[in-house]
Amino acid sequence: METAREIKKQEQYIEKVQEINRGKKLKYNILTMGCQLNENDSEKLCGMLEKMGYIKTEDFKNADLNLFNTCCVRENAEDKLFGKLGELKRIKEEKGTIVAIGGCMMQEKHITDKIKESYPFVDIIFGTHTLHKFPEDLYKALVEKRKQEDILDIDGEIYEGLPIKRNSNIKASVTIMNGCNNFCTYCIVPYVRGRERSREPREIIKEVKELAKQGYKEITLLGQNVNSYLRVEKEKGKKFEEYQGVNSFATLLKAINKIEGIERIRFVSPHPKDFTDDVIDAIAESDKVCKLIHLPLQSGNTKVLKEMNRKYTKEQYLNLVEKMKTKIPNLTLSTDIIVGFPGETDEEFEDTLDVVKRVKFEQVYMFIYSRRVGTPGDKMENQIPEDIKHKRFNKLKELVESQIEENNQKYIGTVQKVLVEGTSKNNENMLTGRTDSNKVVIFEGDTSLINKIIDLEIVSEHIWYLKGKILNKECE
Ligand code: 5AD
Ligand code: SF4
Repeated sequence: METAREIKKQEQYIEKVQEINRGKKLKYNILTMGCQLNENDSEKLCGMLEKMGYIKTEDFKNADLNLFNTCCVRENAEDKLFGKLGELKRIKEEKGTIVAIGGCMMQEKHITDKIKESYPFVDIIFGTHTLHKFPEDLYKALVEKRKQEDILDIDGEIYEGLPIKRNSNIKASVTIMNGCNNFCTYCIVPYVRGRERSREPREIIKEVKELAKQGYKEITLLGQNVNSYLRVEKEKGKKFEEYQGVNSFATLLKAINKIEGIERIRFVSPHPKDFTDDVIDAIAESDKVCKLIHLPLQSGNTKVLKEMNRKYTKEQYLNLVEKMKTKIPNLTLSTDIIVGFPGETDEEFEDTLDVVKRVKFEQVYMFIYSRRVGTPGDKMENQIPEDIKHKRFNKLKELVESQIEENNQKYIGTVQKVLVEGTSKNNENMLTGRTDSNKVVIFEGDTSLINKIIDLEIVSEHIWYLKGKILNKECE
């Protein structure tokens, strides 16, 4: 197979770089921007770098290699990258550190042009479809001392078997598909990540089983549009192998639910338009699938949703929520919302507030609309002034925070199953974990509880976390 041969070739480059670096104890620093898919890509980049003999450091000024895995969903990531590159210029001159930039932003020509013009010291630029070739790009940059630009405009294949260095040994992310076919008019993702393509069921099941063997308890399935897993393959008659009955997202959830050792399954992000009944039933039936579902709303107004090309109305979203609440006991919901999309009036924004009031989300990720070059939204004439966008954002934030406080009160006195993740960052005498609904709970306990699911009584709330108490075991 072509992709297997390519991975073999990259393994040889890994060995070559390893040889060059032998005994040098070189350090690398990585900055990851954006979503969990990017985080998962970074875990693969870290896996490759560590195999090549680099050791991770958090101190970018002292690194021998600085790597950026970029995002371009909103404008602030660009400011962050260019700010960091400005700082790196002097370090590059003094130390000769290798500078590599990859990820979504590199698929945008106006960005790579700017880098080449204003930051000519950058050694390697690679895109979303060439991540697996990083060892080869690095080898060439080191040996040939030439700049490497490795960007593909066509959709990349799915490469299995890349080394991976995971950020946690309790929770793991598993990418199940790449790309997006939805073309929401505000969104740059379909242009930089290409069309949807799903991983083979066999490969996903194999990876999750391996993670279970290594002791991981929680799995998050990742994709831009997870609930259309294998849809394109079926529609276009592309070959895939049905494995353990998996031929859709619903059947994938059921198959993973059966894997011994895995105790929690999450997934992001589904699209409301693809939330079919079989997926709802699979969630309800599968005890390990967490009942917090992320259901991106984006706007609560039907006209704005149409302009956004979201393919559902306010009523359809609310009906879907009702159906899910009826079929899935203990359902909680989180969402993404954009304020200030072109043409959004105050009245239309009120519809977003109305949906938030009705659904009472557990968590709302709020974004101010950001113009993205190349998207239809950027070409719309009725852009909203910044001050109005900010006013709306603050209004939404106020509503969301008041709802979260109210919602937190409901937890007090209840018993929650919490997956213990480690000691608390702010207080090392306390442990921290998360409920099924992804709420952080801080509590006193012994470190032997880490990586276990335990029952905690919730005793108080503090907007962004809850405090819990281990239940006293009754005498038997
Ligand atoms: N501006 C603001 N927010 C955006 N998102 C995607 N594109 C934009 C944009 N141009 C948000 C959406 C999406 C989340 C990952 O980022 O809410 O669900
Ligand atoms: Fe972007 Fe819409 Fe695709 Fe999500 S579904 S990645 S918001 S185009």
